[in-house]
Amino acid sequence: MTDKLWYGGDYNPEQWPREVWDSDVRLMQRAGVTVATVGVFSWARLEPRDGEFDFAWLDDLMDLLDSHGIRVDLATATASPPVWLARKHPEMLPVTADGVRLGVGSRQHYNPSSSAYRRHAARLVRELAARYGTHPALEAWHINNEYGCHVSRDYSEESAAAFRVWLERRYGTVEALNAAWGTAFWSQAYGAFDQVGVPAAMPTYPNPGQLLDFDRFSSDALLECYLAEKEILRELSPDVPVTTNFMGFLKGIDYWSWAPHVDFVSDDCYPDPADPDSAPFGALARDLMRSLGGGAPWILMEQSPSAVNWRAVNAPKSPGMHRLHSLQAVARGADGIMQFQWRAGRAGAESFHAGMLPHGGEDTRVFRETVQLGEELASLADVRGTRCDARVAMIMDWDSWWALEQEARPASLDYVRVLAGWYRELWSRNVLVDLVRPTSDLSSYAAVLAPATFVLSAEGSANLAAFVEGGGQLLVGYQSGIVDERLHVHLGGYLGGLRDVLGVWIEEFAPPAPGSLSGTPAPALRISGLGEGGASTFAEVVRVSDAEVLATFTGPQPHGGLLDGRPALTRRRSGAGAGWYLATQPDNFGAVLDAVLEAAGVVGVEAPAGVEVVRRGDRTFVLNHNDHAVELTLAGEPLALPARDALII
Ligand code: GAL
Repeated sequence: MTDKLWYGGDYNPEQWPREVWDSDVRLMQRAGVTVATVGVFSWARLEPRDGEFDFAWLDDLMDLLDSHGIRVDLATATASPPVWLARKHPEMLPVTADGVRLGVGSRQHYNPSSSAYRRHAARLVRELAARYGTHPALEAWHINNEYGCHVSRDYSEESAAAFRVWLERRYGTVEALNAAWGTAFWSQAYGAFDQVGVPAAMPTYPNPGQLLDFDRFSSDALLECYLAEKEILRELSPDVPVTTNFMGFLKGIDYWSWAPHVDFVSDDCYPDPADPDSAPFGALARDLMRSLGGGAPWILMEQSPSAVNWRAVNAPKSPGMHRLHSLQAVARGADGIMQFQWRAGRAGAESFHAGMLPHGGEDTRVFRETVQLGEELASLADVRGTRCDARVAMIMDWDSWWALEQEARPASLDYVRVLAGWYRELWSRNVLVDLVRPTSDLSSYAAVLAPATFVLSAEGSANLAAFVEGGGQLLVGYQSGIVDERLHVHLGGYLGGLRDVLGVWIEEFAPPAPGSLSGTPAPALRISGLGEGGASTFAEVVRVSDAEVLATFTGPQPHGGLLDGRPALTRRRSGAGAGWYLATQPDNFGAVLDAVLEAAGVVGVEAPAGVEVVRRGDRTFVLNHNDHAVELTLAGEPLALPARDALII
């Protein structure tokens, strides 16, 4: 295993003549590359015909990298099946909800439940593991690539059959399934499991329980593919760690259920350089990765050295930005910084995606930055293995995400946007946050934030209530605790099992008024008690049973005064702890957060806007994301930072 930070990227030498490989390894050495990810899309090259393997080129490549001191993150190559396989087994191609079978000619054209795909993938992995499982260059196994990136839901017959098996395992009897899905509604009752199908295109709203279970099943079906490969690697290459690259906030996969199965978490992250919030958004994804691994170091497996090729506008990273994003990942727990890709491609759909070595070659800004970053990461090798310490946690839960964004729901809310809005305020205060689930162990936190935690089981609410009773500060946001894990509504007033600990319940919802047909905007909500500003978003009619009212909606209001005088923010103290409820997203959310953090005794780090300060181990990272220079004082020391520059103290 390497004792350095990982630095390198996807390396696809099979797309280049052999002589280019020699210049690649020479330039990799110059750039301080320590690890290359190899073979991600090499299936057709490794197995050009059914059962006929060609490993000569990969033998050569592994030895070449080894002789230049470059370690290998070896992919199992199962992400893009060869054409011959799809032609031989067209039933392995994915089917969309509209019944369209997807074609060959891009990538990820397999349905996860396909037995032909799984059988052939397993055979390839067995060959690779037997051949390279003890190769001296092998650092880690990289299973598949970005599971679910393009195809996370498949509606084929094979998937439908697998879904039925999954349901039978979950519910045991069809009566239990009917009860869970509430099929008494609209005459949807099933008489046997073999009558159940996937939620393909339907006349109108599908059954919510069926949709949510199909989301869960689809994540599990991909996980089965991963586990099948992992089992082979464990058998033939037991000492080499195994990962698969996650994709941050990917809706299709519940990474909480995947994370226990990787030896280390790895992530692909592509914040838009043109988005002014690219720094906080990147930070949020990095905090999620650290949290998925329970705080253990993780690897940033892919990021672009500059522009990508797949946005409407592919903005380049400004000078210094790539370094800042890389150091941000290290600061937030990464032990490696990898990019897509080493050498910018010459042909194919990603030719216009940046590489560490651009089309222009060595005499380019991007390559110079590649070399500089390599030097800097080499000097940071001793951060490896160190950890970050967060006292605040925020709930992030795929069930809530899936359920909140179904078509049949109370509000049109974008779950990740709601989370990102809360997170941004924490980020700007330099308060480090872990992401957790409602049922996670919360004992190490002083404050827990629960934005839009729509799905809340009895176990989850009991855990949150116990956190408050144990002295914690819990801030719950609108659209939480509305349904249980089967999507059955909590009766007697929304908030379910949190009603007592919060001392409030929710009687009605008041979504933002859409404005008039002629374009007159709807009036914003006014709030007293939170300083400046109101709210222009979702609100709820709160009923207080046993809580202090800290802020109220004041008239005139949309909805004919429905909210007038109603609580916007409440608090119920319970010993040293408190349960806070926020019934809308106020413009001045920062004031709410400050109050909660103060009660929790959590103090951030004061810094100018756009300056990120993070502590990992005994190092403090100070990152100036601004296009201008800043001055600040840190631990009594005055500091000056040029535009888009960083200091590590
Ligand atoms: C990732 C993928 C890479 C490459 C990259 C381009 O999603 O894993 O193979 O396609 O995007 O940004």
